[in-house]
Amino acid sequence: MLSSIERLTNRLACFPRLGLAHLPTPLEPMKQLTAHLAKDGSCPRLWVKREDCTGVGLGGNKLRKLDYVLSEAIEAGADTLVSGGVVQSNSQRQVAAAAARLGLDCHLTVYHGRLAPPSSDYGKTGNALLNKLFGATLHDVPWNGDRNGAIGDLAERLRAQGRKPYVVPYGVSSPLGAVAYASTVAEIAAQAAALGFTPHAIVHCSGSAATQAGLVVGARACLPDTKVVGIDIDAEPERVRADVLRFGQGAADLLEQPFIAEDVELVAGLAGPAYGVPHAATIEAIRLGARLEALVLDPVYSGKGLAGLISLIQASRWTADKDIVFVHTGGAPALFAYHHLFD
Ligand SMILES: Cc1ncc(COP(=O)(O)O)c(C=O)c1O
Repeated sequence: MLSSIERLTNRLACFPRLGLAHLPTPLEPMKQLTAHLAKDGSCPRLWVKREDCTGVGLGGNKLRKLDYVLSEAIEAGADTLVSGGVVQSNSQRQVAAAAARLGLDCHLTVYHGRLAPPSSDYGKTGNALLNKLFGATLHDVPWNGDRNGAIGDLAERLRAQGRKPYVVPYGVSSPLGAVAYASTVAEIAAQAAALGFTPHAIVHCSGSAATQAGLVVGARACLPDTKVVGIDIDAEPERVRADVLRFGQGAADLLEQPFIAEDVELVAGLAGPAYGVPHAATIEAIRLGARLEALVLDPVYSGKGLAGLISLIQASRWTADKDIVFVHTGGAPALFAYHHLFD
């Protein structure tokens, strides 16, 4: 009789991976951050899953998704990857890096207007600079709230020109992207067991939703007593939650696993006033992560995720005898577009 972890890993092995991402990513203790937060009250033992260390093109959580998703592109004989995101999107930067690595062309819709540019060099530094270096062709479009519409239109235009485009959805979020994220929990379960603990919770920031969807499906199979806690960084909790449910159900079907809607916990209101707008707690979390753990967090995603985790600790959600894993999903290049916050 197979264990539920074996059933999940056997099913995951049925999905081809390109081997682009450096996996498994490390799981490390955050002893100094734990000691610092314990000065003001009880603090659980904190760990960090280094999804910022997935390698290619400065890494991040999308590389793990792309490792699975782009197998489809190669299988289909695509010659061009098409995706999109805001000016400082980590997702499109990782698509551009993967395209460079795979010898494919890359066309990206760059959405303007989802947020006001926070600095004068917002469009020139960080991920925007890397997109150009990786050789992507950029297409400026206005943001209208439809994340995948302009990406699909661009793919149509390229197809009409005789290209063979493969569309990578906004945030690389799809059922297959979520399948990829279920593999993270299998890694965490094995690494935590080797380190002698069982995580009480896995905390991370949630946006286009497939990261959380996959973590929820993976945790049900590998760590059934571990709560997955998503921090909503889009300030759109209904939309994010609906997408976690959608991609989670899709991934569970693909992986032949159960999906339980009650497993989805999305915490709203801890990540500033709007998408891309950091608040004081985010800036403080970025400073603490850097000073105490040498982690490079960003003001849009991972810094907000850590700020959310710190808020929950300060609200006494967990006692000191618990182990909490924070998933560092990456985003470091975007930090440079917000350098004025740290002047
Ligand atoms: C650095 C970083 N962390 C977290 C996320 C959120 O992951 P997801 O979109 O799967 O919810 C993103 C998405 O763009 C990201 O770039």
